[in-house]
Amino acid sequence: MSTTISNEQSAASQSQSIGYDVEQAVRLRYEAGAKQAEASLCCPSNYESDYLEKLPTEIVDKDYGCGDPTRYVRAGETVVDLGSGAGKNCYILAQKVGAAGRVIGVDFNDEMLALSRKYLDEMATKLGYSNVAFVKGKIQDLRLNLERVQQWLSAHPISTVEDLAVLETECTRLKQEEPLIADDSVDVVVSNCVLNLVRPEDKQQLFKEIYRVLKRGGRAIISDIVCDEDPTPTIINDPELWSGCIAGAFREDSFLEMFEQAGFHGVEILVRQEQSWQVLDGIEFRSMTVRAFKGKAGPCWERNQSVVYKGPWKAVQDDDGHTLYRGQRMAVCDKTFNIYTNPNSPYTQDILPILPQEEIPLEQAQPFDCSRTVTRHPRETKGLEYRVTIKNDNSACCDSEGCC
Ligand SMILES: C[S@@+](CC[C@H](N)C(=O)[O-])C[C@H]1O[C@@H](n2cnc3c(N)ncnc32)[C@H](O)[C@@H]1O
Repeated sequence: MSTTISNEQSAASQSQSIGYDVEQAVRLRYEAGAKQAEASLCCPSNYESDYLEKLPTEIVDKDYGCGDPTRYVRAGETVVDLGSGAGKNCYILAQKVGAAGRVIGVDFNDEMLALSRKYLDEMATKLGYSNVAFVKGKIQDLRLNLERVQQWLSAHPISTVEDLAVLETECTRLKQEEPLIADDSVDVVVSNCVLNLVRPEDKQQLFKEIYRVLKRGGRAIISDIVCDEDPTPTIINDPELWSGCIAGAFREDSFLEMFEQAGFHGVEILVRQEQSWQVLDGIEFRSMTVRAFKGKAGPCWERNQSVVYKGPWKAVQDDDGHTLYRGQRMAVCDKTFNIYTNPNSPYTQDILPILPQEEIPLEQAQPFDCSRTVTRHPRETKGLEYRVTIKNDNSACCDSEGCC
């Protein structure tokens, strides 16, 4: 209940009538930022210096990020960078994922795309492989390839509402037949200081798009600007503050809730800048990096698995509503067991997995009611007929007189 109310407050603050075209303000600001570096647009952040050495100075200088999502990406992964700007994050990622990985930067700004693409060949030569592409699209609509739309428009200029309907049909076809980023195709979605820039009415769709393109088990790692209170109407109605990554900032609690509402689990704050970046009308704005996972959707099967939560909290609850009590042997379905125990899961270090003595093959498993929280008796794990007695003959505390 409180979740809904707090989000409503935040959404209401962002849906107040805005007296200017948000996208136009953002586009113009970053067109200029691609031509001339603007220091105040950047909230200083530390990147791993090894990866900066190979980057052209212009790319390093035209950095408008606020965090470093790149440090949470591994070799071989396919990564999409939302709002890739000059390409700094993408060219760092190119080195992180290596020749076996892939990096796709998405931006809607021609000047930024031209700047990032300018260094593609130089970087490929330096790295000895080519694994980066920059594509044109809106990050809240990752199906639509805007360069393909532009090509079509050049060949079919429109001037009537009937033409407009034909264009809409073509856009629908492009989204279905040639999506810019396909469903379930990406290991990691990163973004650095961009989500706040998206129009309030498109923000929910933006999170749905991040979820759509990720593979099951994939993750979003997003650095963005958050605020501790809702921005005032005066702040929101200032186009300079919007394009400067202030007015569209997420209230920090709603930022996490946006991931939850889109279906993510394991949502976690990785970094929250201690010092605020800016304070306006008493509202603090700072950078935060959040990680969230895709993969909790799907059927629940009973395979007699259990987990023990190690602590230190007395109890914890996951995004499916399961409560785990410290030290207790909790019954979980096969899906939850796999989510908790996957080596890359955010939960694995807190969990002790307990497999049944006799494995139940998935094809023979019965449905598991995940809406209840239950403990599992050890006999259920071991089997009712479990009667083994083990005497350890080599035990150091035993002697000829018997065990101590
Ligand atoms: C603050 S800059 C960040 C650039 C880059 N991530 C970095 O760390 O330097 C924002 C970038 O996102 C792009 N952008 C803003 N809104 C966008 C949208 N809705 N769709 C695609 N790109 C967008 C801008 O053109 C700009 O290049």
